[in-house]
Amino acid sequence: MRRLLVTGGAGFIGANFCHYWCAAHPGDRVVVLDALTYAGNLASIAPLIDAGALRFVRGDIGERERVTALLAEESLGTIVNFAAESHVDRSLEDPARFLRTNVLGTQALLDAARTAWGQDAGQRGCRFHHVSTDEVYGSLAPTQAAFSESTPYSPNSPYAASKAAADHLVRAYAHSFGLPVTISNCSNNYGPFQFPEKLLPLCILNLLEGRRLPIYGDGLQIRDWLHVSDHCRALELILTKSAPGETWNIGGSTQDPNLVVVGTVCDLVDAAFAAEPALAARFPRSAPAQGRSARTLIEHVRDRPGHDRRYAVDSGKIARSLGFRAATALRAGLETTVRWYLDHEAWWRGIVSGEYRQWYARQYSQAERT
Ligand code: NAD
Ligand code: TYD
Repeated sequence: MRRLLVTGGAGFIGANFCHYWCAAHPGDRVVVLDALTYAGNLASIAPLIDAGALRFVRGDIGERERVTALLAEESLGTIVNFAAESHVDRSLEDPARFLRTNVLGTQALLDAARTAWGQDAGQRGCRFHHVSTDEVYGSLAPTQAAFSESTPYSPNSPYAASKAAADHLVRAYAHSFGLPVTISNCSNNYGPFQFPEKLLPLCILNLLEGRRLPIYGDGLQIRDWLHVSDHCRALELILTKSAPGETWNIGGSTQDPNLVVVGTVCDLVDAAFAAEPALAARFPRSAPAQGRSARTLIEHVRDRPGHDRRYAVDSGKIARSLGFRAATALRAGLETTVRWYLDHEAWWRGIVSGEYRQWYARQYSQAERT
């Protein structure tokens, strides 16, 4: 039986991980620590809390003493650190917030683990797993080989730089203090519970509301899309099979330009409306409800400053060593994701009526059409 602290468990990937882990390992003790920033949403894990499958604690990973006490009180020997500020555009507005949580917060969490676990953490099977991003590697030219675990770090945004700094600290705590750590660097995730500031949910919800789909620059930037359920499975393999000290790249092995991915989402929304006439009554402002193709809402806007052109992840190491392969084909994953947002209107209405509405208006009123 494992006893896990899941930080950031009320966010997108953390919540998916909690659902995945509680279903796959019902005998384990799971405690979620989350500060509930704008991106945290208790509704995403409420069924697990209500069922007694996990304990929720509201708190900041930067609260060193409190986290140390929680680790000791609950005898938690595994930490999965998802907690972070995660949106590149927000890191361009307020980098300091990213350094506070992603760098200093991670360092405080590492200290808490060291204190609570003591010198023999490795022998006792403790594990600090740090969830990081492929963005630490920077941007790839069109023909450059995909990021491997030995690609040098070259972060381009304040977000990516803060994640890179955290990765270095995690590695340094292993080297200097013998803390048993693993790190994973994954590509762009998509799926249920994703906060609507990110490209795919933003497009799905904008489509339902009849708002334009803002494509930064020429829309030919390439991301390696990974369905969040595949990511959770990869994390499970790392937590259960990896030796400490290892770093793992996790990708979805897809490399489509943003315009193509958004075009597919448009087609899937059109198809859903065609198959289910009741959707037009639920979303009367959407393009298909008004007899237009969803693609007519695509609009090119001013590019993101410093926008990375291409990410691609080489998942060869995790495939060979742990037997991981992403199982969700992009189109199939997008289809179930569109369906999830159609079926969970109450979840996203709660978000889009709050702080997000003002942020969106500010962010996208500045985005000039091109
Ligand atoms: P998210 O923004 O959806 O969720 C972050 C969660 O962390 C929220 O619940 C928030 O309340 C919580 N949080 C923020 N600051 C905190 C603090 N100081 N203390 C405690 N909790 C805090 O993020 P996500 O998309 O779920 O990403 C999770 C992790 O995965 C992050 O570390 C991110 O860098 C990494 N990652 C994400 C992606 C992606 O595509 N979403 C890709 C690669 C890596
Ligand atoms: P995003 O979801 O913010 O993830 P990341 O920047 O971490 O890759 O963006 C994914 C891609 O979509 C990225 O190339 C930026 C682009 N994008 C847009 O074109 N328009 C948007 O409104 C957003 C949010 C992103």
